[in-house]
Amino acid sequence: MIQMTKSKEESLLEYYQTNSINPCIIPVEDEKVWEDHRIKRQNLYRHLMIPLNYFRNKSILEFGCNSGENALYLASIGACLTLYEPNNQVIPRLKKIFTHFKLEQNITDIYNKDITSYSDDKRYNMVVAEGFLHTLKNRERMLLKIGNMLVPGGLAIISYDDKYGSMLEMIKILLLCRLCQIRNVALNSDHSLKLANDLFREDFKQLNASRSFKSWWEDNLVNSHSSFQAFWSFKEIINVITQANCSFYSSSPRWSNIDNYTWHKNVLTENERKQCLNDEWNNNFLFFLTGLQPKGGINIAPTQTVISAVEDLIKMISENCFSRQGNIGMIQYPEELERYMMKTNNPDVMLLNQSLKSLFKTIHTNDCETIINHYHSLRDLRKMWGTSLHYICFSKPI
Ligand SMILES: C[S@@+](CC[C@H](N)C(=O)[O-])C[C@H]1O[C@@H](n2cnc3c(N)ncnc32)[C@H](O)[C@@H]1O
Repeated sequence: MIQMTKSKEESLLEYYQTNSINPCIIPVEDEKVWEDHRIKRQNLYRHLMIPLNYFRNKSILEFGCNSGENALYLASIGACLTLYEPNNQVIPRLKKIFTHFKLEQNITDIYNKDITSYSDDKRYNMVVAEGFLHTLKNRERMLLKIGNMLVPGGLAIISYDDKYGSMLEMIKILLLCRLCQIRNVALNSDHSLKLANDLFREDFKQLNASRSFKSWWEDNLVNSHSSFQAFWSFKEIINVITQANCSFYSSSPRWSNIDNYTWHKNVLTENERKQCLNDEWNNNFLFFLTGLQPKGGINIAPTQTVISAVEDLIKMISENCFSRQGNIGMIQYPEELERYMMKTNNPDVMLLNQSLKSLFKTIHTNDCETIINHYHSLRDLRKMWGTSLHYICFSKPI
């Protein structure tokens, strides 16, 4: 059985260490896996508009590199790496894979330390922090700190679990939690893994995920760090990036058209760019929630009431699913969201809305089979994962 968070103070790192979890292990020693991993990383940099030859001989500082599979790809295209990873359990594998690929010479230093303890004043061409920054209590301060670690013209890449893009995954957690409640088993038990398997295995197979089902279950479904507090949003992040005197450069998924269809001589100020990005964010809200591409080029911007209703739903799911005393019976599908989705006149969104409404009704029955069968019948919903993982790349001005 996985240990659930012992106290609100337990960090993501402690969760991994207590349970000996390597959250992102990718068996890159297998040639096919390596090829698949390489192609996915290349595609990420394509999304982020960073040409691959940018990395050659560049100094790159990566925080939270885990066992180094992503850093390994950067080494393979010529980057010089300084690696920070506070979990000592994963360092032996990190060293092993670099030796296996004969890329040890691309590592300048490895530190078994976290980002908070970084105090060097060296500047880097690129700083990377994927998969953990959003879970830190001092995340704003750490993001500002990253901005200060860059040379002029340098780039930083961060990833985070998006507050709104995580809605559909949170609903998956709610479903699993309800089944565990009916069977009277813990969310982190082996029985829960079996129930998750019955519910989601087929859907998960359709995803181009790099990790195993069990690893996804451990890191997303039963990891109480996948919760409202840990989610972050573009609007919060762009404020910090601006405070760090840096500029938004690109994102994955890409959703901004800010520099498209414009004459390069019409230069926006940083404030105008921020305003424009925030407006575009509103127009892409439905995409963040559902993963569906905007139809006809534009979506309907949500009101603050709709945004708050989504936040409240996610908050309720996280507060009630990760504690034994939680009351998931009171969690309802928000009417504001329902009205918003129906207003879109987009058939895919309207169908999703119907599916979600019916699912929330079924969740309150007391029979696991009924819930599983009903979920399995909702083919449109099962194909959708929202857009929980977001990347942002930002640059320091020259
Ligand atoms: C979800 S994993 C992501 C691993 C890898 N960066 C990736 O994206 O595949 C999060 C990693 O961040 C590390 N981590 C957690 N807290 C950290 C902190 N405060 N500073 C640096 N790394 C941290 C964890 O040990 C783990 O290796």
